[in-house]
Amino acid sequence: MKKLYLALMTFALVFSLAACSSADSDSGGSGEADGVQELTIKISHVVAENTPKQHGALAMKEYIEKESDGKIKVQVYPNSQLFGDKDEYQNLVANNVQFIIPDMAKLVGNDPGFNIPSMPFLFKDDEAANAFWDGEKGQEIFKRLEKDGVLGLSMWPNGAKHITNEKKAIKTPEDLDGMKIRTQGGQLLEALYGDLGAGSTSIPFGELYTALQQGTVDGQENTFSNIESKKFDEVQKYMTVMGHTRVDYALLTNTKFWDGLNDETRKIIEKGVEEATKVARDSAADLNDEALKTLKDRGQVEIHELSESEIDAFKKHLEPVYSEWAEKIGADIIKDAESKSK
Ligand code: LMR
Repeated sequence: MKKLYLALMTFALVFSLAACSSADSDSGGSGEADGVQELTIKISHVVAENTPKQHGALAMKEYIEKESDGKIKVQVYPNSQLFGDKDEYQNLVANNVQFIIPDMAKLVGNDPGFNIPSMPFLFKDDEAANAFWDGEKGQEIFKRLEKDGVLGLSMWPNGAKHITNEKKAIKTPEDLDGMKIRTQGGQLLEALYGDLGAGSTSIPFGELYTALQQGTVDGQENTFSNIESKKFDEVQKYMTVMGHTRVDYALLTNTKFWDGLNDETRKIIEKGVEEATKVARDSAADLNDEALKTLKDRGQVEIHELSESEIDAFKKHLEPVYSEWAEKIGADIIKDAESKSK
């Protein structure tokens, strides 16, 4: 009787351990086993296929699946197919998705440091933005997400933003007066448009085309590749090439998922992130150049490229907003960011 009892207990223990490890395998393993773990990981984002974000995500998939001999499967969901702006962060925290790549303007509620890409005319190009986020101050801001159980792995640029609208060609700060502009997030972008006499509201990217089409807002600001790939030129009459703010992304993962990986598995994924970062960074500027060309060829929006003196007028107008937000974000951080454009 005692023997039978022991045998049953042993069976129960082995069975429950096996059940545990198979449950782990979906979202990260125990972190202790040797060999590459069998996993399925999901990458979710909100933009279209022909963008640096999707190029980076696909490079990550390719590298990780190849180097793990197919043990790790990577599913990439573009176009808000899995999660949209409103729910992707919570679902990362819940480990329902293992990687998201939000525009930092969508993280301003988590930390004011993520307003940095919205500081008017701060970075002169992608390289300056990359250098800031790779540096000590940028990494400090990423670390502030750790309180949510979120790990910032890398920054991917998209590029400078430009304004499209349905009402008139914007050439001076006064031209924005009375317009209603959709932004990616509140805080600094809201202050910026407030300073220009425009109203602003944040609408998820997945709902933006319809919002523009229905006139819920008059305009929006975005990169050429986002404007072109989502065909916003179909529902907007004017585009001003301005480059006043930026779209920069944070590649984020769930800390528990990450810590649950064993060394061999984590190394492959880490290298995959590195490769993907290179691809995203290398493709961003080219995709924006191509997109501008396509927008010109399609000829649906009237394009005005601001002259240097027109840009200076915007810079001057936005000086008070810049100073106020430099203080809010931290003078030392902004000084460091400014130094990358010198
Ligand atoms: C937007 O919402 O306009 C962009 O931030 C989308 C993106 O992820 O590039």
